[in-house]
Amino acid sequence: MVERKRILSGMRPTGRLHLGNLHGALENWIQLQTQYECFFFVADWHALTTDYADPKEIRANSWDMILDWLAAGLDPAQCTLFIQSDVKTHAELYLLLGMVTPLPWLERNPTYKEQQQQITTKDLATYGFLGYPVLQAADIIIYRANGVPVGKDQLPHVELTREIARRFNFLYQREVFPVPDALLTEVPVLPGTDGRKMSKSYGNCLYITEPEAQLVQKIRNMMTDPQRARKTDPGDPEVSPVFAYHKLYSSPEQVAEIAAGCRGASIGCVDCKKILIANVLERLNPLRERRHQLERDLAGVREMIRAGNERAGSEAAQTMELVRDAIGFSPW
Ligand code: TRP
Repeated sequence: MVERKRILSGMRPTGRLHLGNLHGALENWIQLQTQYECFFFVADWHALTTDYADPKEIRANSWDMILDWLAAGLDPAQCTLFIQSDVKTHAELYLLLGMVTPLPWLERNPTYKEQQQQITTKDLATYGFLGYPVLQAADIIIYRANGVPVGKDQLPHVELTREIARRFNFLYQREVFPVPDALLTEVPVLPGTDGRKMSKSYGNCLYITEPEAQLVQKIRNMMTDPQRARKTDPGDPEVSPVFAYHKLYSSPEQVAEIAAGCRGASIGCVDCKKILIANVLERLNPLRERRHQLERDLAGVREMIRAGNERAGSEAAQTMELVRDAIGFSPW
């Protein structure tokens, strides 16, 4: 049998996932798990690089995120799901990679510079924050992954990972690490309820396992074409966030009908939203129900996480033997 290519990706634990997360990363992961050997993990140590002063929520956010992953269809029978901080060898590799990573590679990292400027409420002038991409490199190459599905914002980190992998192989004259490829995830631009980019910090999110009544209310209140004051005014569907959702949740026929009806003032915003609400609920109700089931069996979820940690840990341990051996730190 040909070996399946190995895929690895992670998310920082931000809590419940919103529709932007679902239609970006998560649906892609769910697709990938059927074709490749996949490892997906909760990057809780990475959360600590920015939230070290207030780490109380990281555990709860990790639970929320992993329950949403499972609810959306990541399947532990098809892929390995695990928690970064439970596979301690990531930290060992991170330390060793720290020895070979030139400081300027980290100082010129665009996310480092950007976040230093943007996040003013936290002191990010720490060693750990500078080393964020070294830890990420360790996450990736400890599984000798071939592909890393990520959004555009993460490309510099994958590029750095490639450079670190090459440098390690070169220094110790051994092809311990395959040089991984970034698999760029096309993220549809999903507006939030107010038309701005969907983001937790704007409070404009629709969550993937949100209670039905709340979803309905949020869609009812969602912004539409602001130029269309009355139902008798013709509207422009392309400026309405509601229409952006129709493109994802409604049939091509419905989308065409709604676009024409909006432009021709034959369908009002209330009716347009009713159609959307029905379609969104049809798609998301099963996710919410699955999440409720999982919540009733947290012991089962915990067991599943343990099994994933163990599988990941044993893969990582094998790589670490090669790593120690390459450096000459084999067992005494
Ligand atoms: N930095 C990534 C993010 O913020 C999370 C992450 C950590 C990751 N380690 C990774 C992603 C390894 C891919 C591979 O989204």
